[in-house]
Amino acid sequence: MKKFSIVIAGGGSTYTPGIVMMLLDNLNRFPLRSLKLYDNDGERQETIAKALEILMKENAPDVEFGYTTDPQVAFTDVDFCMAHIRVGKYAMRELDEKIPMRYRVVGQETCGPGGIAYGMRSIGGMMELIDFMETYSPDCWMLNYSNPASIVAEACRVLKPQSKVINICDMPVGTKRRMGYIVGKDPKDMVVKYFGLNHFGWWTSVKDENGTDLMPQLLEYVSQNGYLTDRAVETQHMDESWQQTHRKAADLLKLTPQFLPNTYLKYYLYPDYVVDHTNPDHTRANEVMEGREKEVFGAARAIVQAGTAKGGGFTIDNHASFIVDLACAIAFNTHEQMLCIVENKGAICNFDSTAMVEVPCLVGSDGPEPLCQGDIPTFAKGMMEEQLASERLVVEAWIEGSYLKLWQALTLSKTVPSAAVAKKILDDFIEVNREYWPLLK
Ligand code: NAD
Ligand code: G6P
Ligand code: MN
Repeated sequence: MKKFSIVIAGGGSTYTPGIVMMLLDNLNRFPLRSLKLYDNDGERQETIAKALEILMKENAPDVEFGYTTDPQVAFTDVDFCMAHIRVGKYAMRELDEKIPMRYRVVGQETCGPGGIAYGMRSIGGMMELIDFMETYSPDCWMLNYSNPASIVAEACRVLKPQSKVINICDMPVGTKRRMGYIVGKDPKDMVVKYFGLNHFGWWTSVKDENGTDLMPQLLEYVSQNGYLTDRAVETQHMDESWQQTHRKAADLLKLTPQFLPNTYLKYYLYPDYVVDHTNPDHTRANEVMEGREKEVFGAARAIVQAGTAKGGGFTIDNHASFIVDLACAIAFNTHEQMLCIVENKGAICNFDSTAMVEVPCLVGSDGPEPLCQGDIPTFAKGMMEEQLASERLVVEAWIEGSYLKLWQALTLSKTVPSAAVAKKILDDFIEVNREYWPLLK
């Protein structure tokens, strides 16, 4: 069987150990010959890499392992790049979340003004990664988690239309696992219909392997509990703030009683509630720095100190299983059904055919083929059109260096109450993003 060579871009990410653990777990169906980490922050990456070096030696001594900040070394002779970079790191995420809150506007990693500011940083970093990949390994596929995935996907469509990049999100996968607990089924046996933009969509159908409709049971449960389940087996999306988000899905469902909502719709449908329940001095970025980042880097240091990874600290999660499943689907042409962010091309029949949408796709060696989801109703369509316009304006603003287009993007976001507030947030963001954004005129 062919053995694959992988580079993880954003090697210093808190998600890198989980993906490496998952790759180790899957060596029998997805054999590796080489695994490299790449990051532009060598120091951050080294902490994780030194621990993973020990883990790899103990579990897969035949797989060549390395880590580097040199793009040529990283991207030469690779079949897949699994990307999860965060341009500006948590320090900038914190500002993305806190600056809008000065004006009582949602401060969130990927939604509203925070997502727009993050998008303006990510586009450049992602385009650079794609250039490295295409220079050193032209046949490589990039499987990209880097956020904000909608804006990154739109930038790829416009700037890199021929590139082999697949943008993905773990939220629908995570929520589907919760649906599995609710109905007592293995998520792998559940077939869904779904439409939307990234972090902005709805399930219209969930069936089991025999075609039995699971929607009535799910709608009833979610109307009472949201996606909150008492199964505490998850390693991801478990903090108290996430529990509130899972629960809030009950209120999202009230707007579309036939469709199951993506949890991220709470930022667009109940922004006032979100602001009221956010501490402007302690946002999700702080929780992550005090939680996941501390735990993952602490576990890495402990492994290095002990000189062994046996019995040690890293956890495997569904975030990692999705990207490994995706790589397998491409490598072995399985045509497995997965949600990906792809050009619409008629999949959502009554929606812009060039929009980057999140829909079920069949994934094989040519990449994802979107499946037809039919027509969507006016309420969702109207929301998506406004959001799509906002995301497109971000990409245009980045390409053209246009202040006006970015102001329009912020003004169009459903989370922002007026053009005046949009301008204040924009001017504050420009101040702190000088190092990362193109100059706006
Ligand atoms: P993190 O800050 O721990 O890791 C990101 C790493 O990227 C850092 O080590 C940083 O140095 C590196 N980096 C930044 N800019 C870079 C560049 N230009 N080139 C190379 N490396 C660069 O962040 P995290 O919390 O682990 O998240 C990582 C990314 O994954 C984020 O973009 C996050 O939003 C995304 N994510 C996406 C999904 C999804 O559903 N799509 C799910 C989880 C995480
Ligand atoms: C979900 C989303 C990701 C997002 C993450 C944030 O998994 O799909 O796109 O990055 O949540 O989680 P965090 O724990 O960093 O707030
Ligand atoms: Mn996501």
